Amino acid sequence: MFTNKKETAKIQLDPENIPNHIAIIMDGNGRWANKRLMPRVAGHKAGMENVKTITKAASRMGVKVLTLYAFSTENWKRPSDEVNFLMQLPVDFFGTFMPELIEENVRVKVMGNIHDLPEKTQKAAQDAMADTAQNTGMILNFALNYGGRDEIQQAVQQIAKDAVSGTIEADSIDDDLISQYLMTGFLGEYADPELLIRTSGEERISNFLLWQIAYSELVFVDEFWPDFTPQVFEKSIFTYQQRHRRFGGLK
Ligand code: IPE
Ligand code: IPE
Ligand code: MG
Repeated sequence: MFTNKKETAKIQLDPENIPNHIAIIMDGNGRWANKRLMPRVAGHKAGMENVKTITKAASRMGVKVLTLYAFSTENWKRPSDEVNFLMQLPVDFFGTFMPELIEENVRVKVMGNIHDLPEKTQKAAQDAMADTAQNTGMILNFALNYGGRDEIQQAVQQIAKDAVSGTIEADSIDDDLISQYLMTGFLGEYADPELLIRTSGEERISNFLLWQIAYSELVFVDEFWPDFTPQVFEKSIFTYQQRHRRFGGLK
């Protein structure tokens, strides 16, 4: 059999052009499980294990921020058994992965409406953030009970309140100020991802980072999230590196 040289050739990433901030819509857990005649939640379990693999890969490549879409404000519509399982995952994830996160010098952050999560999920998130607060390496930023429109709504409300109370001037509301009021504001210069990846073949945004992806490169891959290996990850970054980012200007 002939081997396709193009497919087997090892990808050479440009180490000078690794995105600082990569965001991933981790989609396809349910279909991954269905394909194996397993319950959907088995896909979520496999997906959780893959978060560990991809976190380590990203950290070792020199990525500064990895934002992972774990649960959207719309995912409450799913059957309660599945929602309950998803709410237990952060407990299991941090419960088993914390030593490695510390070893990798990764700092955990969780953005979204954390206070509407079950108590145990909130505690897992708060503990993980506290236990890694001193780490100085990659930020592993989970979007949990997060929605892009919800985020913008909350930012607009806070901006309006601050304008009324005189903390800010209406005329000072610009691009930068809005960015600071969003849930990614704490990321400063890294708030906007250079690269957004969605797995599972779906090509939509599903209410993720609506403001922040204004000029992100979008890469859609066919693999379901549990099948998204470090090799597919590298290939996605390679695709990013082949793109010409113009930001409306000329090259
Ligand atoms: C992504 O996988 C994980 C979450 C949304 C929590 P899905 O559960 O959406 O899997 P599919 O898209 O149904 O295959
Ligand atoms: C987006 O996936 C949310 C997460 C990956 C957490 P969904 O599976 O919820 O998105 P839709 O419903 O296909 O748009
Ligand atoms: Mg899905």
